[in-house]
Amino acid sequence: MLGVSGQFMRKLHAENTIPEPKDVRGGRRHYTAQEIWDARQVLEKSSRKKGRYLPGRSGDEKLQVWQLMNFKGGSSKSTTSVHLAHYFALRGYRVLAVDLDPQGSLTSMCGISPEIEFDGLTVYDAIRYDDPVSMAEVVVPTYFPGLSIAPARLLLSEFETESAVHSNPDQPFFTRIRNALAEVENDFDIVLMDSPPQLGFLTIAGMAAASSLVVPLTPSMLDVSSTAQFLELAGAYMGVIEEAGAKLQYDNFKFLITRDEPTDVPSQQLTSFMRALFQDRVMSATALKSTAISDATMLKQSIYEVVRSEMTRGTYDRAKGSMDAVGREVEVMIHQAWGRK
Ligand SMILES: Nc1ncnc2c1ncn2[C@@H]1O[C@H](COP(=O)(O)OP(=O)(O)O)[C@@H](O)[C@H]1O
Ligand SMILES: [Mg+2]
Repeated sequence: MLGVSGQFMRKLHAENTIPEPKDVRGGRRHYTAQEIWDARQVLEKSSRKKGRYLPGRSGDEKLQVWQLMNFKGGSSKSTTSVHLAHYFALRGYRVLAVDLDPQGSLTSMCGISPEIEFDGLTVYDAIRYDDPVSMAEVVVPTYFPGLSIAPARLLLSEFETESAVHSNPDQPFFTRIRNALAEVENDFDIVLMDSPPQLGFLTIAGMAAASSLVVPLTPSMLDVSSTAQFLELAGAYMGVIEEAGAKLQYDNFKFLITRDEPTDVPSQQLTSFMRALFQDRVMSATALKSTAISDATMLKQSIYEVVRSEMTRGTYDRAKGSMDAVGREVEVMIHQAWGRK
């Protein structure tokens, strides 16, 4: 994870550069995510190569705002959001997950149960029309080192109704998420926005704040045809808000094939069809359909949280390998957007 050898780690411990982890069993050191995160801060300070341990943005590199969107439910938006969030946080980036879905799946994956104990501030409070609060008050750290969340709960759907009746020409609906993010932008490298399964005001306000869009798509004919409709509709709406003064410009617009089944012939045919049609707009990496992923998400965990030895190893390795590949491909695009080699 740190990109260093075991020997180098032993040397760091011997010199007391980084503290011993709490959990040492039979001479083996077991690190928590927090201990790795803390080690990054120490190592970065003494590293000759800047950004080696903390690869986040510097100088004039812009905040990366990635929105996962598709108006189809079950296309793996929330699952992809949380996996990307964990992937980047584990690599030392400062990540903000923004839950734009009033159902709050991403919020609950981040350890807050929106329907039970949670009555704290949500994204709604930062983007509402009457007396909004600062986004800085909404954003809370999660239990996952490096990852914060702007949570959602059902109340967020008020934004849909309010936006329909409100017309404040100074601050139209599509500026509200962008302005909210601007208030916390210095604290983060990467923002990942999950979207509700509809093309409403929340999704479109998200699109007006995003620097890149990813449309997760499952390879079944129904999804492909409904996605065509979705794109047509999205295009029409974007045209309308551009006329109203929004500037929409994306570093990347990509499809991501999710719940990919390499052994299922019809779904592979659709995947090839998608690639032939959309070419490099379809990401090379796919998120494999895997019981390791569905079992983990059932426990509100990502594949990065489950214990490998508690799963069938091959299944775990394939699932994690595919999620890593998706994360790595997005990471490369982010570095390109930052103008790095
Ligand atoms: N790669 C995958 N393998 C297996 N199941 C998956 C995978 N991705 C998502 N799922 C399952 O599909 C369901 C819908 O995913 P979700 O991320 O909630 O979709 P969305 O947010 O687009 O509605 C969830 O129950 C999730 O566990
Ligand atoms: Mg969802």
